[in-house]
Amino acid sequence: MELNGRTVVITGGASGIGLATARRMAQSGASLVLGDVEEGTLAEAVESLRENGARVVGATCDVAVEADVEALRDAALANFGGAHLIFNNAGVGGGPAIGTPKAVWDWVMGVNVSGVINGINAFVPLFLEQNEGHVVSTASLAGLGGVPGMGPYCASKFAVVGIAESLFHELALSGKNVGTSVLCPGFVRTRIFESERNMPDELKAYNDDPKVRAISSMASDAVNGGIDPSIVGEAVTSAVLENRFWILTHEHAAIRTSEQRVDWMRGGRPPRINLEGATRP
Ligand SMILES: NC(=O)c1ccc[n+]([C@@H]2O[C@H](COP(=O)([O-])OP(=O)(O)OC[C@H]3O[C@@H](n4cnc5c(N)ncnc54)[C@H](O)[C@@H]3O)[C@@H](O)[C@H]2O)c1
Repeated sequence: MELNGRTVVITGGASGIGLATARRMAQSGASLVLGDVEEGTLAEAVESLRENGARVVGATCDVAVEADVEALRDAALANFGGAHLIFNNAGVGGGPAIGTPKAVWDWVMGVNVSGVINGINAFVPLFLEQNEGHVVSTASLAGLGGVPGMGPYCASKFAVVGIAESLFHELALSGKNVGTSVLCPGFVRTRIFESERNMPDELKAYNDDPKVRAISSMASDAVNGGIDPSIVGEAVTSAVLENRFWILTHEHAAIRTSEQRVDWMRGGRPPRINLEGATRP
């Protein structure tokens, strides 16, 4: 798919991977609609992109809310006369599989999974009708293999991989010029492990639990040792241009994780978790 003259909509576009991809796609001549729940950060992101010559609008949205994501599509049509790519990227982390309150699971699943579903429902009918478009959804290495301390996050990212694979096959059967990709990065230097900043207020006390704090501090060390988000922005852009499904910024770890699961299914040992392996490309 061409990006020059097309309109790209990015959720979670105010920070990290979303913002880096916005910068990269603006360089390829795309107009941008950035959706994010953080109003102030979003305004700063839009401002800095405009300073660099990008055509961009920002819209505050909660991706878990269907009408908010439909409003992103409508903003693309109203401001730029079309929409050609939806990057379902907004995401948050939660707690471990043991002891995480159901309300926290619901929040993680709402943002990470309903956000993707809402993006598909709002944009794919339009893409099919115009016979042009691409859907990118952000999963994770945590969507290819389970990781301790990240139960809700792994559940949500496995769901994203499953949704994306189903979508791939349905689009192939449709015979239309609409593609899809799934992004499965390892650690990337972003604010993902400060996700609690966007938690509903009534859930925030959960983060004071010492076990949650310990997991969060380990995870933030790993994230800070991760790759630069610009590398991910580049990988997403080339996958769209080449219509490639898997976007594996940490290919070695992604393949090893998948092979170890197959080996485990065949009666081999459970995989040994190696966070360091998930930091290297
Ligand atoms: N950073 C990593 O190591 C890593 C690894 C694998 C996958 N990911 C995934 O990458 C995606 C982007 O995260 P990031 O690493 O750039 O983190 P980030 O925290 O820097 O960016 C996430 C953005 O999503 C926004 N957001 C959160 N909840 C939202 C909601 N309900 N509606 C709209 N926007 C919302 C945040 O405000 C933020 O701007 C996420 O899906 C994350 O799970 C990150």
